Amino acid sequence: MKKMTALILIVLFLGLIVFTYAQKEEPKKMEADPAAELAKSIENGKKLFSDTSLGTSGMTCNSCHMEGGTKEGKMGDMTIPAWDNLAAKYPKYFGMAKKVMTLDQVNNWCIMNPLKGKPLAWDDQKLTDLTAYVASVKKVEKKKK
Ligand code: HEC
Repeated sequence: MKKMTALILIVLFLGLIVFTYAQKEEPKKMEADPAAELAKSIENGKKLFSDTSLGTSGMTCNSCHMEGGTKEGKMGDMTIPAWDNLAAKYPKYFGMAKKVMTLDQVNNWCIMNPLKGKPLAWDDQKLTDLTAYVASVKKVEKKKK
């Protein structure tokens, strides 16, 4: 009878070990991290910002929107202001196209006009990435004191 009890205990013990290991199996694939996904999109958009293949004029966005839009640029006599939180300002009237536009549309407008390229489709990830980047540009607050 003692043998029987010992056997049952061993079986239970082994069962416990198997159970414990089963619990430690690879954790389920985590849901995508929203902040990391956005950071990736912004990073890709930043690369597109100096990509001549968006157009045919040899220019890039950086040719006019200096240092990724963080510095004031020039186009002939015209001053192109540095960007600051553009996403909060659109849709707005875009003077050069003489109509109200969304930020995506303005990006495509600059692709079609200065860059002389083909507009990106609305569901093209490149357009999303470009807009994610443009929207991420904020004026660096000058520290007071
Ligand atoms: C030849 C110069 C030139 C190039 C190259 C250019 N842009 Fe522009 N962009 C302008 C000018 C000029 C404006 C209008 C500025 C204004 O109205 O104050 C403008 C405006 C914009 C605006 C709106 C800014 C605001 O203050 O509302 C965005 C966004 C923009 N461009 C994105 C891009 C992107 C993205 C690219 C590259 C695909 C690009 N631009 C390439 C000249 C250029």
